[in-house]
Amino acid sequence: MSPWAGAGRRVHIQEVGTRDGFQSEGVFVPTEEKIALVDALSLTGLSKIEVSAFVSPQAIPALRDADEVLRRIRRYPGVVYTALVPNRRGALRALEAGVDELNLVMSASESHNLTNLRMTRAHSFRALAEVAREAQSAGRAFTISLSCSFGCPMEGDVPQADVLDWVARFLDLGASGVTLADTTGMAHPGQVAQLTRAISEGWPAAELSLHFHNTRGMGLANVIAGIDAGATRFDTALGGIGGCPYAPGATGNVCTEEVVHALELMGFATGVDLPRLLVASRRLPRLLGHDTPSQIAKAGCRLDLHPVPPEFDAIQARARARSG
Ligand code: COA
Ligand code: ZN
Repeated sequence: MSPWAGAGRRVHIQEVGTRDGFQSEGVFVPTEEKIALVDALSLTGLSKIEVSAFVSPQAIPALRDADEVLRRIRRYPGVVYTALVPNRRGALRALEAGVDELNLVMSASESHNLTNLRMTRAHSFRALAEVAREAQSAGRAFTISLSCSFGCPMEGDVPQADVLDWVARFLDLGASGVTLADTTGMAHPGQVAQLTRAISEGWPAAELSLHFHNTRGMGLANVIAGIDAGATRFDTALGGIGGCPYAPGATGNVCTEEVVHALELMGFATGVDLPRLLVASRRLPRLLGHDTPSQIAKAGCRLDLHPVPPEFDAIQARARARSG
């Protein structure tokens, strides 16, 4: 057993890079490359992969090939393949493409829901209740991602009571899990602990996931605050890419390899093979045409050592001579 704080406790890592990451990129990553990347990620030990989003291709052209990607990836036992769906049309497409689980989405904030989904929250909820029935009659599980659960870039703080009310309504519909999403990096550790505790005390059987963006550098601190308060599932994006195109100022998700690197050092068991993950992450600059925010892809892991400088022997000899 690990001597560190994690003491071998299991933490599940859920990759969202090919959805949250690619949706905000200016380039269209070719379908074959998306499939190859998901296949590579499947071999790394991730618990869940959010492969794509079945949204309007006019709204998010970068993910217009969701159907083909979902159909052609190789399924690895033990990995749950999910996709984001905002409406019934998206749910029918996702079910047809063979998704394991539907990730429904709406915002906890009215302004962000209107901007992102062009609907009031009440309208979204009615539409998603219908999606829930579709999922149930197809025998497929569904989860709900609540955007802006920790704050809205247009409204400010979102009352915790509102977030808990939406959680209750979706669990009543039969959702197997709830994701609290910090769409624009407004969450801070105390708030994360409070909301995590409120949900695990109120609905101990619900699968709670936390989804942080590192917009203000608090991503990893929030993950650790979530773990301390009992959370065991985190959405993360390879390379730290990601961001909502309809949320002013949104930037990348917490970075998968940074989270895995830190949690494993702390003694948590993520089940993720970090070297393999890094090989996948290092494909991203070529696919996206730019560098990624990943610190680990740049700096390497903590104990990736560097050779001593060529003049090291001479430095050592001089230093020893001086010290007698
Ligand atoms: N899949 C494919 N096409 C879809 C679709 C879906 N899930 N939902 C809507 N469409 C199409 C409609 O058929 C219609 O096409 P047409 O103009 O050729 O007839 C068009 O999109 C507009 O449909 P409408 O129902 O009027 O939707 P809208 O314009 O009000 O948009 C959403 C609502 C939610 C579909 C759209 O805003 C969307 O997909 N947003 C993406 C949000 C997102 O992914 N944000 C980032 C992640 S949080
Ligand atoms: Zn996100």
